[in-house]
Amino acid sequence: MPDTLTPDTLTPDTLTPDTLTKIAYQTFQQGKQVFGFAHKTLSTRILNTMSPKEREEPNPLTPEMIQSIQARINDLLEVDWQDAENGVYPKWSLFENRWNDFFRYYPEMCLDLLGIWERANGKRYQEFSDGINTEGYPAYYVQNFHHQTDGYFSDTSANLYDLQVEVLFNGTADPMRRRILAPLKQHLSTVPAENTPQPLKVLDIACGTGNSLKLINQSMPEAALYGVDLSPAYLRKANENLTDVKGTPAQLIQANGEQLPFVDEFFEATTSTFLFHELPAEARQNVINEAYRVTKPGGIFVICDSIQKLDTPELEPMMENFPAIFHEPYYRNYISDDMVNRLETAGFTDVKTHNHFMSKYWVAYKPAA
Ligand SMILES: C[S@@+](CC[C@H](N)C(=O)[O-])C[C@H]1O[C@@H](n2cnc3c(N)ncnc32)[C@H](O)[C@@H]1O
Repeated sequence: MPDTLTPDTLTPDTLTPDTLTKIAYQTFQQGKQVFGFAHKTLSTRILNTMSPKEREEPNPLTPEMIQSIQARINDLLEVDWQDAENGVYPKWSLFENRWNDFFRYYPEMCLDLLGIWERANGKRYQEFSDGINTEGYPAYYVQNFHHQTDGYFSDTSANLYDLQVEVLFNGTADPMRRRILAPLKQHLSTVPAENTPQPLKVLDIACGTGNSLKLINQSMPEAALYGVDLSPAYLRKANENLTDVKGTPAQLIQANGEQLPFVDEFFEATTSTFLFHELPAEARQNVINEAYRVTKPGGIFVICDSIQKLDTPELEPMMENFPAIFHEPYYRNYISDDMVNRLETAGFTDVKTHNHFMSKYWVAYKPAA
């Protein structure tokens, strides 16, 4: 099958059931892109009319940048399809969408936009609804990340989060998260069954509403899933989202990634998606040290987070825009942070990195005993 399906490459020979599934997948993703773009354009216009913006203008995106972004999305979707073809996960999982949540929460998400906009204009970064108790959390966490209503502290925030991310990344959040699966699955397939208690255990640090755990389950239903997050509300949502996982039910625990509530060397694999850009430098190192502690010798740690300046200097204006538009207090420090050095400082070796669209991946190993 040709990589890019166009009217020219479609012939009776290339038109197989597989080609049709690929076309359906591409169309599904294009629909999400159009929806995300239309939502952002329309809502920005409406909000600007209702409450004109007083914030600094972000760097304008040049036509070359827009082209580069589209090319990066296309590459990501191609890899996403290829990994499904290669059996890393089933093809049906590419079409998963929480339609119930979409219809239930999309209107609420739109209504919430004015509050977000005004909070952003007023530079109010620590504003929470009455009754929310922020005591006992690390100071760096008590924020309205992305100007999110209630930060990570309410069920409303947890219900809207996935839709907001879906719109922000034009439907590519799961394709980006899925890029942790190939190295993870490859590694777990090499763990010798005879001297390892089954099932193999995978911990997702800062699991949020459970998206990565769900994708891991679709790819490796035999693995036992563990998730930690600081937010009880997000864990409640994760619990809801993970009710239909196959195999052992996921174990979700409220905990700080800097102090994991597990004994040493408990997991065959540890993962984390979109956490590190929301942590100050010291906390980043603490989480990596903890991931090292709880991973078994010979185990793997896979991280997915935002791209960094050193890999994609051409997208630097976009990276500069991100913390200016969304409240992301640690992002500027993160995009220049040497995460490989952090992983090696903790003890990980063989660290490999790669990029897909707006995300970067670190695959690291704990040396065998
Ligand atoms: C951007 S969200 C990513 C959530 C999820 N991993 C995903 O892929 O959608 C960041 C998550 O990190 C959690 N978090 C932030 N700091 C944390 C910490 N120190 N320990 C545990 N969770 C933390 C937040 O509660 C939130 O759920």
